[in-house]
Amino acid sequence: MLVTAMKCETFVAHEDPEVLISEADIQARVLELAEQISKDYEDCDELVMVGVLKGSFIFLADLSRALTIPRVIEFIAVSSYGRGSRPSGAVRLVMDVRGNIEGKHVLIVEDIVDTGHTLKYLIGMLDSHRPATVRTCALVRKAERAEVDVPVDYLGFDIPDKWVVGYGLDYAEKNRTLPYIGTITPFD
Ligand code: IMP
Ligand code: MG
Repeated sequence: MLVTAMKCETFVAHEDPEVLISEADIQARVLELAEQISKDYEDCDELVMVGVLKGSFIFLADLSRALTIPRVIEFIAVSSYGRGSRPSGAVRLVMDVRGNIEGKHVLIVEDIVDTGHTLKYLIGMLDSHRPATVRTCALVRKAERAEVDVPVDYLGFDIPDKWVVGYGLDYAEKNRTLPYIGTITPFD
């Protein structure tokens, strides 16, 4: 028998996110970042882009395809937040890079820098693999929320202290695939 209708209420977000950064503005900024990165690394053999799962997957996909230099993709996974927006404590490594990055030029690609603890941890972690260089790229940063000083070499946008979703970013796993970045009010 054909299933013609499915009840999907559990997948519906609790509200429609309000647009903070439009799809067009994101796409334009991604191209600018890609141009800058391609220029800065033009003399390097290869750039290793390390995407931080899960939030960076869409940003990394667009950014990596807009580069004009040789590049390879790695992923790393960390856990710093529990369900929703409440921090669960220290940053924990869930999955390390697979490839050997010793002597390579590494660019960490993050979705968002909030307190900065995750990115700081990642820089230290990847440094222990003895790469030639480690730089950072983040789509958005909540500057007001910074608790540690961490360099963001390539930044998409500075944003206000609001919970954002879309273009890879989630709230309790929802709204990651929105083409724009929007704001919501978390429940907790
Ligand atoms: P940090 O260690 O406080 O900088 O937190 C970084 C991580 O917190 C990000 O990689 C996200 O997973 C998560 N995060 C912080 N703020 C937001 C937000 O507004 N939307 C979605 N995820 C967020
Ligand atoms: Mg992240």
